[in-house]
Amino acid sequence: MSKLVIANFKMNGSKDFIESWIKDFLAEQESANSIIVALPSPYLQTFSDRDLTLSGQNVSNEDSGAFTSQLSAGMLKDCGAKYCLIGHSEARHFLMETNEIIKQKFDQLKKESLQPILCIGEPLKIKEASKTTDYLTKQLDLIDSDQENLIIAYEPIWTIGTGLVPEIKEIQLAIDSIRCKFHKPIKVLYGGSVNSSNVIRISDKTDIDGLLIGGASLNPKEFAKIAQLC
Ligand code: PGA
Repeated sequence: MSKLVIANFKMNGSKDFIESWIKDFLAEQESANSIIVALPSPYLQTFSDRDLTLSGQNVSNEDSGAFTSQLSAGMLKDCGAKYCLIGHSEARHFLMETNEIIKQKFDQLKKESLQPILCIGEPLKIKEASKTTDYLTKQLDLIDSDQENLIIAYEPIWTIGTGLVPEIKEIQLAIDSIRCKFHKPIKVLYGGSVNSSNVIRISDKTDIDGLLIGGASLNPKEFAKIAQLC
């Protein structure tokens, strides 16, 4: 089955960088998987006419109004995004986003028919205390268990940008605990230090529906290789 392979550029790149990234990526890209690119918001509109599915990296929990610096779901949609990340650990940390706020963001995206990609994951302390399942369950508590078409990205915080990857059985255990919260089939992605050397092991030995890739996605050839191998 086709997987979802998402590049998360975070706050990296420039107009020129993205222009040449797209050229190099499309020249290499042979994967049958679905590719999504989460660009920094100012570039969504600029590259909305390319042969790529675009995602935002965050969205406001509000419709409109006096929320200087924020972007609404409607604005992201106008700029060509079809998907949007929410709950990324960097947004939870630096913007102090709570599960309640993230649920409001989820609802805003749904209202505009954008597909949320809800990121969850445990910090190292929680993993070391063997409390990962409870922690993930709490992060999902506000999402209706009958929700259709859910996409959840499981990203252990301690693996993001560190080169560390959990044991395969730890990934599968987390994925099982996420799936069993919901009554409908959902897509669960894995993210955290994925690269072309570890992607086969992660995707062949678990039942993940795709990958969320940060650092390694900035190299278009590497990202194309990951998309091909997963
Ligand atoms: P990483 O980031 O691949 O650089 O670990 C993943 C993410 O933050 O989505």
